Amino acid sequence: MSKNILKENVGKKAADLIKDGQIVGLGTGSTTHYFIRHLGERIKNEELNILGIPTSYQSLIIAREAGINTTTLDEYDIDVAVDGADEVDENLNLIKGGGAAHTLEKLVDSSAKKFIVIVDDSKMVKQLGEFPVPIEIIPEALRIVKESLIDMGGKPELRMGVQKDGPVITDNGNFIVDTKFDSIRNPQKLEKELNILPGVVENGIFTNLVDKVIIGSPSGIKEINKDDIL
Ligand code: A5P
Repeated sequence: MSKNILKENVGKKAADLIKDGQIVGLGTGSTTHYFIRHLGERIKNEELNILGIPTSYQSLIIAREAGINTTTLDEYDIDVAVDGADEVDENLNLIKGGGAAHTLEKLVDSSAKKFIVIVDDSKMVKQLGEFPVPIEIIPEALRIVKESLIDMGGKPELRMGVQKDGPVITDNGNFIVDTKFDSIRNPQKLEKELNILPGVVENGIFTNLVDKVIIGSPSGIKEINKDDIL
């Protein structure tokens, strides 16, 4: 079974959980792409009154194409946010930011009353860290932050553009430094330590935020709720 089918299955499952009248955080990436499209179909077919709050230009554009009206965090609180992830550990901590959208994703996902993560089973890991931690920095901080990350035991690499010369520029006009750490034994601690480096805008470790993970595998869909692991 292809990965795209697994992603579509979990995207549809999450779209079916959204209720009429809700304000919905729209995550970024190839998995949430399916979620947004299916939510748009439900809104059309069932004449639902739902507003989306996008986490990137990508999710804003897909929402528009799907016919979902959007609003902002300035105007509304979010009932439920649905987002993908690059890694999910056994305690439901995440690495996000493979698409360089983690700064707005963390704001939207953390402010939602309920945060649902949708992934295919290849994203489930025992311990975070195989995937390098994406760190958004202001461009002026590149050398200084890289030196600090090396001191912390990381291997930082400036993310380069594809079909664009030079570095990736985020939706916020910043750089991304992907940093591999040998082992992330305490994600809560590392998340805080990275964010206090001057010049860092936000890092892609998300701890203590997830309410539910919906996992797609060839044998079907599995759900893990926060209460299952407490
Ligand atoms: C965007 O920056 C990321 O946080 C994505 O949510 C994450 O990379 C998952 O993306 P995919 O669903 O494309 O794997």
